[in-house]
Amino acid sequence: MTQLFLNASQVVTCAGPARARRGTEQADAVVRDRVGVAVAADGTIAAVAADAALRTDYPAATIVDCAGGVLTPGFVDSHTHAIFGRARYEEQEMRAAGIGYLEIAKRGGGIHASVRDLRSRTADDLAVLATERLRRIAAHGTTTVEIKSGYGLSLESELTTLRVIQRLAAELPLRLVPTFLGAHEVPLEHRETAQDREAYLQRVTEEMIPAVAREGLARFCDVFCEPGVYTVPETRRILGAARAAGLQLKLHADELENGAAAELAAELGATSADHLAAISEQGIRALAAAATVATLLPGTMLFLGRPRQAPARALIAAGVPVALASDFNPGTSPTVNFPLVLTLGVSQLRLSVAEAFVAATVNGAAALGLAHRIGQITPGFAADLALFDVRDHREIPYWYGDRRCQRTWVGGRPVHAG
Ligand code: NIG
Ligand code: FE
Repeated sequence: MTQLFLNASQVVTCAGPARARRGTEQADAVVRDRVGVAVAADGTIAAVAADAALRTDYPAATIVDCAGGVLTPGFVDSHTHAIFGRARYEEQEMRAAGIGYLEIAKRGGGIHASVRDLRSRTADDLAVLATERLRRIAAHGTTTVEIKSGYGLSLESELTTLRVIQRLAAELPLRLVPTFLGAHEVPLEHRETAQDREAYLQRVTEEMIPAVAREGLARFCDVFCEPGVYTVPETRRILGAARAAGLQLKLHADELENGAAAELAAELGATSADHLAAISEQGIRALAAAATVATLLPGTMLFLGRPRQAPARALIAAGVPVALASDFNPGTSPTVNFPLVLTLGVSQLRLSVAEAFVAATVNGAAALGLAHRIGQITPGFAADLALFDVRDHREIPYWYGDRRCQRTWVGGRPVHAG
């Protein structure tokens, strides 16, 4: 049965080419007034046209009343670490007292604390925790969520994490995209000597990646490439093994300190380079010459209390497509609120509202290799939609921290309903 979404004040369509938008292309979210959307029974968008025309063309359709709200493509959150156990609120006060993120990690906290915790939990426990968090994520307008492993750091617990994601993808109406992040940290039991570290690298490249690929548990492989975590040569080696196993590539690149990780992302033709708060001029030039999406995570820098955000304006000026994502994780960005990320995109990264919407939809989709299917309200695309209780789309980043999202749909099926 066709559904007609009628009586919207505006529809943010982001209509245009089915690929990442760069430069001035990113500045147009193609917002249309007084139109409705027809969704076919197969869950794809059939038409975007005046309400009256849709009523005439689809007389038997079911009506969804948008009640004067604003309809947008569901947000595509292309970077999260949503499978974890307990929260890490104690680190917030430690940072406030002047103990930095990497220092907390050196003391066995940070990612290591989440690793200890995750390893002690069952898959069922992790699935229950993640389901509740994903429900909140969807309630803020997100319909696609990339989820990384990386709090297991052993063959068994990394596979458990990815199998939980696979199970949630089958159970929940959201679109989930799994990423293997076995190189999120070097686990504590592999840090004594250089041989210990080498043994873990071998485990990642020779055991974990082949096992993940064999079971079809991940679409991407990511590495935390950062001074003090994984070096550029180690990252090149891990991602080389991932590519050989058929995985696509992502990097946590130049997040806290510059380590020429963006250059590596460009060299490898990674689908996305994420964070980039410490990217260099050279790194920007390298990304501009590549097809890699720059995924910026302004919530992370905000939550860590760091003064420097990624140079979004310079990236856009250089012609690099910019995506926004939440980085939802227990250590550096515990937010489920994607509209808040839009706010930060405008206030901290100095994006226009249109650039922020494109970053959250089409370019997020491109960062997942899905720009041909999701991220736009255009005929032929999946009907992944979010309805907001505002009259103008610019209010969505404006009422910061609020939850104006009323309903979300994936493939025309309700995910969150009020
Ligand atoms: O994207 N940088 C590495 N990973 C996460 C943080 C993970 C954690 O602290 O638990 C990030 O910031
Ligand atoms: Fe991250």
